[in-house]
Amino acid sequence: MLWPDLRYLHCMDALQRIDALRAELHAHNHKYYVLAEPSISDREFDALLEELTQLEAAHPEAYDANSPTQRVGGDLTDKFEKVPHRHAMLSLSNSYNAEEVAQWAERVQASLPGEDVEFVMELKYDGVAISLWYEERALVRALTRGDGAVGEDVRTNVATIRTVPLKLLPGAPAALEIRGEIFFPWDAFNALNALRRESGEQEFANPRNTAAGTLKLQDSRLVADRPLDCMLYNVDGGAMQALGIDRHSEAVERTGTWGFKPPQGRSLEVTTSVDGIMAFVAHWDKARHNLNFAIDGIVIKVNRYNHQKRLGNTAKSPRWALAYKFETERARTELVDVKYQVGRTGAVTPVADLDPVQLGGTTVQHASLHNADQIAKLDLRIGDMVFVEKGGEIIPKIVGVDREAAHAEGLFAPPSLVFPSACPECGSTLERVEGEAQHYCVNFADCPAQVRGRIEHFISRKAMNVDGLGKETVAQLVDAGLLRDVADLYALSADQLLPLERMAQKSVDNLLVSLAESKAVPFERVLFALGIRHVGETVAKLLAGSLGSFEKVAQASVEEVVALEGIGPVIAESVVSHFADPAFREMVARLVAAGIQTEVVEEAPLGDALEGEVVVVSGVFTTMSRDEAKSAVTAHGGRLVGSISSKTTMVLAGDNMGPSKLAKAEKLGIPIVDEDTFLARIQS
Ligand code: IVH
Repeated sequence: MLWPDLRYLHCMDALQRIDALRAELHAHNHKYYVLAEPSISDREFDALLEELTQLEAAHPEAYDANSPTQRVGGDLTDKFEKVPHRHAMLSLSNSYNAEEVAQWAERVQASLPGEDVEFVMELKYDGVAISLWYEERALVRALTRGDGAVGEDVRTNVATIRTVPLKLLPGAPAALEIRGEIFFPWDAFNALNALRRESGEQEFANPRNTAAGTLKLQDSRLVADRPLDCMLYNVDGGAMQALGIDRHSEAVERTGTWGFKPPQGRSLEVTTSVDGIMAFVAHWDKARHNLNFAIDGIVIKVNRYNHQKRLGNTAKSPRWALAYKFETERARTELVDVKYQVGRTGAVTPVADLDPVQLGGTTVQHASLHNADQIAKLDLRIGDMVFVEKGGEIIPKIVGVDREAAHAEGLFAPPSLVFPSACPECGSTLERVEGEAQHYCVNFADCPAQVRGRIEHFISRKAMNVDGLGKETVAQLVDAGLLRDVADLYALSADQLLPLERMAQKSVDNLLVSLAESKAVPFERVLFALGIRHVGETVAKLLAGSLGSFEKVAQASVEEVVALEGIGPVIAESVVSHFADPAFREMVARLVAAGIQTEVVEEAPLGDALEGEVVVVSGVFTTMSRDEAKSAVTAHGGRLVGSISSKTTMVLAGDNMGPSKLAKAEKLGIPIVDEDTFLARIQS
């Protein structure tokens, strides 16, 4: 262990070390995120990052917006600066078949008589265009397309994307503009939607709009939670020619040595023929379904920069490039039925049952109809032949009706579908909130669909984590009147459960044990489990952390809840109105009587070895993380503080503790305790 770390007592040493660490960490980030070949462990990486964080804290004069420590996002951006593009951000002209591609290729060749024209093909990423400006190899701006002439600088948000280098590797041109596309990979997008579903929030419709919305978030910490990705597709040709690089394909390859992730494998190819172009198109029209991101076509470019220059641009798009748009997959099938699903919040969603049909590599049996307006707009009737599209959405949607087929049915066509005015589950009135497209069942307390939904949510893994109660059993118990709300779960007895289908003695025992164990689930998860609209895991944590108990949450006013960091008026309103409802309060009272957790429990002290100590924890430890070290301090009676002052009585110092902290502690004569000594003391 390097303690005490006296390496950087001289300022110059520290500044040099900062530079060296930044270069080393940039290189490791590149290996990890771009090449997917890390050469050090996460722990070693974290240790280097921590060392840099500490050194930077001690040397604010060495601040650099592009330091690897700035990746996490943090600063709130008040607004985005509008910046004119150096070259207009044009769009592409589109083509839809081989003939149009051949015509374009002919026009290109005719404008370049006698020249050997090379084409390069790339994927057309379905995301948001971004222009990245590097100066002195550092990322200084990241401009959105805006209106094509002026973009918005969303650099702080783009800096959270791991595949965008903040500092180009040595050897890269000092000044460079790179354009590319930012997108939301499918796996991350689906995971985000799963979380939103769990917290009763509206799911995002498609990755493209979500990526666009994410880039415009004001708080880059939220952006950092959404793993966006970036692919480059354009390097400033003038700068490349100055480096002796004549072709787009070579430039793209070279960007790999500067820290970017160039297109992988077959996603970039060079050809001289239309056949070559169409072979690439045919390959990706199929293979695109296996990609972890959405593409909506192929982009074909003239490869040589001098040819691009001679071809030039029209007002809207370059003559040297062409987009080939994939057909949005569309299938024609029969609308068999429309069902109305009622969620746990009471929202009613129409879902179409279709005659199964192949679409985009999967069999489609259901399609989303969104809401009443959509049904009316399409003028749907059961038995209609409808067109279904997948497009960029995950759930296929009905985009139209084959009217000719419908008319062939003559006068006996069934009536147009009308959105129900009563809840399909309980018959209560449906209400439509002003300005919202969704209808809601008003029978919050007793609608069986809402009751089932709330119970399923309550027992889910991230909430109370109750095992052994499947959807069907929940439905049986609700139907039998044994479960009217989540509090009834704790009144279930073996006698009530045994007669149910799929409930043998052993499964009943397991369920009762699991219910009993769930009473120990921490308060923040109880709060999440209640299924209050807009209270997902994160909000529940915030509420529990700042208010501490049911009693406090129930008493809080909208103003008090809004005042909590990270909570807006819609959430606050929802929380307060739930606790104002006598039925909800009564149900919470029964949960409390059953013995669930009602407040944040401070960890019981493990000992009092640090009683009276006021402790600063700093540096990196070998046997525990810094958070574990901090927990150990409080668990043994010590009080944690963030910075060293005359009141501090002890500094727990790991490796690479910042030199300024060290100097300050020494100056104030505060005992500096290393990891081994600390462990010995708390274990004594
Ligand atoms: S080249 C016109 N290459 O598609 C300037 N664009 O519809 C040269 N896009 O604004 C664009 N993948 O945001 C190019 N491989 C790719 C692309 C691509 C996606 C986007 C880009 C552009 C839009 C045009």
